[in-house]
Amino acid sequence: MELGLDDRVVLVTGATRGIGREIARAFAAEGARVAITYHSGEEDAVKLASELGSADGTALALRYDLADPAGHEAVVGEIVRRWGRLDVLVANAVHRPPRRPAGQAFEDVPAEHWVPAVTENLAGVIATVQCAVAQMRRRKWGRIVLLSSHNALGGGPGQEFYGAAKAGLHGLVASLAWDTGRDGVLANVVCPGLTATEQVLSVLPARIRDQETALTPTGRLSSPAEVANAVVFLCSEANGNISGEAVTVSGGR
Ligand SMILES: NC(=O)c1ccc[n+]([C@@H]2O[C@H](COP(=O)([O-])OP(=O)(O)OC[C@H]3O[C@@H](n4cnc5c(N)ncnc54)[C@H](OP(=O)(O)O)[C@@H]3O)[C@@H](O)[C@H]2O)c1
Repeated sequence: MELGLDDRVVLVTGATRGIGREIARAFAAEGARVAITYHSGEEDAVKLASELGSADGTALALRYDLADPAGHEAVVGEIVRRWGRLDVLVANAVHRPPRRPAGQAFEDVPAEHWVPAVTENLAGVIATVQCAVAQMRRRKWGRIVLLSSHNALGGGPGQEFYGAAKAGLHGLVASLAWDTGRDGVLANVVCPGLTATEQVLSVLPARIRDQETALTPTGRLSSPAEVANAVVFLCSEANGNISGEAVTVSGGR
């Protein structure tokens, strides 16, 4: 299958580690030029950009803050200034809200904890998508994937605010598909289940991991590279007509 990603210009937000890093690597392996973003992990981003070809001008690391109203345009503008266009956006960065203290009820969560989780993970992503669509529509080609979560579909203890923001992304692509489809811009959501990133493996108690794998039809968690494969396909030329969909990568769960 021809993915047609050679020399495409791709932005992957939040690519310092985990799923985003594997998505960036997968696009680079297909010959794309890849801009990656970091929030606090500049060193990790510079290291990855170097691995992906920053010395040859085929990779770029940029700072990006979901909460910064000027940052969305700044990142997309810098990519267009360097490479002339933006073909693909993967909105992967996530603001992880502080863990809720044991026993704290939903109604007791203070606004300063949940408002950033909802505004950054929903309004912040929407703002970046607007900047990307403006570029893609001009060239009549574009692919957008937003990283959601199994918590947007099935919920989970303590996931109300994160889940609400992620569920908003499903509503966004369902209607965006109508707005951009005739201009060649396809937008979808990818929903990972619990994924075996280094961070998940380091904090997840073995007991919970065993429970999760027992409840998964394939008997294991997805790897970040498996999530990346789904993202890359949806962002490729090989995806000719899938838009407004949510694709779950969770071993059948
Ligand atoms: N891992 C899972 O099991 C899982 C399950 C379901 C859904 N997902 C979704 O998949 C995506 C990737 O997950 P992950 O676990 O690989 O993520 P992660 O390891 O938590 O990495 C998050 C990324 O977002 C960046 N970031 C953090 N706060 C930011 C902010 N305020 N503004 C801009 N960027 C910020 C981080 O940059 P710095 O390192 O520079 O701070 C990092 O690159 C996320 O959208 C997540 O919700 C993951």
